[in-house]
Amino acid sequence: MKICIIGTGYVGLVSGVCFSDLGNDVICVDTNVNKIEDLKKGLIPIYEPGLEELVKKNYKAGRLNFTTDLSNAVKNSNIIFICVGTPTKKKSYSADLRQIYKAVNNLRKYINSFKVIVTKSTVPVTTGDKIESLISKKKSKKMFSVVSNPEFLREGEAIRDFMFPDRIIVGTDNTRAKNLLKNLYDPLIKRGRKYLITSRRGAELIKYASNAFLATKISYINEISNLCEKVGVDIEDISIGMGLDQRIGSRFLRPGPGYGGSCFPKDTRAIIDTAKKFNTNLSIIASTIKSNNDRYNILFSKIKKIMKGKIAKKKITFLGVTFKPNTDDMRESPALKLIPKLNKIGAKISYYDPSGSKSILEKYKNVSFANKISSACVHSDLIIIHTEWNEFKNLNFKRLVKTSKFSIYDMRNIYSQKKMKNSGIKYFKI
Ligand code: UDX
Repeated sequence: MKICIIGTGYVGLVSGVCFSDLGNDVICVDTNVNKIEDLKKGLIPIYEPGLEELVKKNYKAGRLNFTTDLSNAVKNSNIIFICVGTPTKKKSYSADLRQIYKAVNNLRKYINSFKVIVTKSTVPVTTGDKIESLISKKKSKKMFSVVSNPEFLREGEAIRDFMFPDRIIVGTDNTRAKNLLKNLYDPLIKRGRKYLITSRRGAELIKYASNAFLATKISYINEISNLCEKVGVDIEDISIGMGLDQRIGSRFLRPGPGYGGSCFPKDTRAIIDTAKKFNTNLSIIASTIKSNNDRYNILFSKIKKIMKGKIAKKKITFLGVTFKPNTDDMRESPALKLIPKLNKIGAKISYYDPSGSKSILEKYKNVSFANKISSACVHSDLIIIHTEWNEFKNLNFKRLVKTSKFSIYDMRNIYSQKKMKNSGIKYFKI
């Protein structure tokens, strides 16, 4: 198949590369000339394990290409995937769809034969209808079909999630579009991946409903962990005990500092906004958002308790600042709430993250990046394990810190309380 991918961000690049790896001819389009030039040189703008090799392999094989020329890309493709960003609008909950409509207004000019236009970006339910009416102002409805095909990629696992999805969701009632997409996904369907055809609005809503549910699961277990701390119960027993129930499932029941990233926060806000427009109150998701927003206050008071109220001038180490491991993404990371709050009351903060230093943290005067775990930890008064990167999972803290008077606050429960206690370390977990 000949495929055009509009947008070479996280979703577009991963989808384009994987489609090309499945044997399709893929042309990725972006308005950013430098980005396109870099991609042609094999320079990948995002931190995603395995992506660079896949780009180089398929670019070399001639199945994958990059261009700023949307016209040729659309004219020579059967299926056009819209993979541009749909961030939350400033000071609102609604999704900013300007990039979507800009892409649609451009691509509709170049429809020279039947095209399937696919929204892979996460778009509010009914967006496909609006795209369809926009295009039909210029082209007859016989020349195109607008389809929803949401992605369920997790940062850090995106290639695996694309190649081995739990399910592929396609929203359309157009027969030609159904056949084209079934052919496109056939290699994955043959591997036994579930393939569901539904209405376009259904597919749009499945994405939001899924992400909002996963976010709710996380806020739920985080709140249960608050209760566990009061009644002296180990939250891990609860997660395991609950997860053995097939109806609940064991995944996404790990307590932590709260969910972050570019998706859960944005998608939970967007589905609330959509529901409001349709006069529907999604009170559970609203409380998921509130619970997650407030969580850093709970963690902050715990830090004050651990430090017995003495934080000014103390050295506090953050091991990890990204919102999750195997990514360099800082979007809505809980560290972006905790670090400024601690910095404000005079803590001297040193952080180490395997994905490197973060420009967003440079504005804080007493916050510095340490390029080694040892320099981040030496003479620290409190070590906060914020992100569960693998390299934090087997550290000899006494040797790293070099003083005896320090505490550990493990926000991802990667260590065993018993072992820490036996080694005489003041260790706190969720
Ligand atoms: C998510 C969805 O998983 C994915 O399907 C969708 O396409 C995009 O959004 P992502 O945001 O990349 O993916 O990361 P994910 O692994 O889902 O984690 C999201 C947040 O939840 C992270 O901050 C993570 O630390 C947190 N989390 C996840 C928990 O706190 N506990 C868990 O058990 C799982």
